[in-house]
Amino acid sequence: MDQSTEGLARGAVNARLNGIGNIEWREANAFDLLRELERRGERFDTIVLDPPAFAKTKANLARAVAGYKEINLRAMKILAPGGVLFTSSCSYHVSRDLFNAMLADAARDSGRRIQFLGATGAAGDHPELLNVPETGYLKGVLLTALSLP
Ligand SMILES: C[S@@+](CC[C@H](N)C(=O)[O-])C[C@H]1O[C@@H](n2cnc3c(N)ncnc32)[C@H](O)[C@@H]1O
Repeated sequence: MDQSTEGLARGAVNARLNGIGNIEWREANAFDLLRELERRGERFDTIVLDPPAFAKTKANLARAVAGYKEINLRAMKILAPGGVLFTSSCSYHVSRDLFNAMLADAARDSGRRIQFLGATGAAGDHPELLNVPETGYLKGVLLTALSLP
């Protein structure tokens, strides 16, 4: 799911080049489609949330965190029992602690028992420098849902 026609088209070309034919591409606004999927009672074994940086500046941090919470809450609600959710943020202004607190908030509101499986950050080809905090903006968390929706 992506709202970009061009992004989806590029994805389809890459899938074809790699001989992958079992992908359904959906052009949609994630905020709308996640709600719709929940309303329809759809469930998914694996969900990956890879949104753009919602917090481009410190001034819109609260709004950005609300956006992250909304998509994570909806994803938690449509996660099948035992399914995995990989969720990420590339907003420098959203610290790892703030991201984790947002996820805990979403988990509480989802009514699910959500278990933490692991955390990750930038890959080795994108080094994080201890004395340059701006380089540590990539955050990823792997979760699983233990209980029924
Ligand atoms: C960090 S990129 C992820 C791209 C993709 N995961 C990839 O690896 O190529 C963020 C993507 O979110 C899409 N996006 C931004 N806002 C969106 C929204 N409200 N609903 C759906 N997609 C959105 C952008 O078009 C962009 O492709």
